[in-house]
Amino acid sequence: MKVVTTISDVRAITGLAHKAGETVGFVPTMGALHDGHRSLMKAARSECGSVGVSVFVNPTQFGPGEDFDTYPRALAADEAICKAENVDWLFAPPVSEMFPDSARTTVHVSGLTEVLCGLTRPGHFDGVTTVVAKLFLICGSGRAYFGRKDAQQLAVVRQMVKDLNLPIAVIDCPTVREKDGLAMSSRNAGLSANERQAATVIPRALRQVLDQIVAGERSPRAVAKMLTEMLASEPIAQVEYVEVVDADTLTSLICEPVSPLTGNVLLAVAVRFGSVRLIDNASVVIENNGPEVVY
Ligand code: PAF
Repeated sequence: MKVVTTISDVRAITGLAHKAGETVGFVPTMGALHDGHRSLMKAARSECGSVGVSVFVNPTQFGPGEDFDTYPRALAADEAICKAENVDWLFAPPVSEMFPDSARTTVHVSGLTEVLCGLTRPGHFDGVTTVVAKLFLICGSGRAYFGRKDAQQLAVVRQMVKDLNLPIAVIDCPTVREKDGLAMSSRNAGLSANERQAATVIPRALRQVLDQIVAGERSPRAVAKMLTEMLASEPIAQVEYVEVVDADTLTSLICEPVSPLTGNVLLAVAVRFGSVRLIDNASVVIENNGPEVVY
């Protein structure tokens, strides 16, 4: 596996791959890799001739007072994981390579970024789309792999790719969960033992509410209330948001006039445990032949 730190090195590697007729499979990450990332690498490996991973803790997607400084960094371990997954190249640039002081351009996707996480993290998605657009342009055409845990990020990146006609197929992969259901996240490492245990309320609440929908519950308000109450039943959980939205447009379904849940519905939550903010979601497609759950 080649480990490179410059944009020109990545261009050289992917340029050769394209010339050889290989599909470039790309997994953008902020490092502290876990089994969720591994599943993206495996998907890329099974579909692409040249597989690359980026490890870059992107400062532009963290707001003031957020966890940029304490975000876990573990490049040696990340390298070992990428090697074990048979990755061809790892791009780990310094901040100055991706964002020289002269940078003045921001990629902004409107609408999808002002809701859910965008409400409490203003500017976050501009940081994400700007760095992801840069990474896509550096890699050239190919396939890029994202986890469904970051459902809003996925929707925003898809929209950006469509709007900018980027030659990238965005592939979404299932959320990978711990045995007790907690969605894998680099931020889980920051939970104390007590917080880690308490955080299992998130997958439990999502599952229970999904079960209610499967059993026939169709009121968006009732679903949101149930989810909020279950999360709040955990004394140290600080619920930031509970939303029931259309999975494609991210528009809230808890609105007037209230209509029964139908179509592709996303239940999305953000919950803090101490200083760690976790997000998770589940989706359910409600059609005539009954609900189909993705968790
Ligand atoms: O999901 C992440 O890890 C980051 O938001 C991403 C896509 C690598 C951009 O920095």
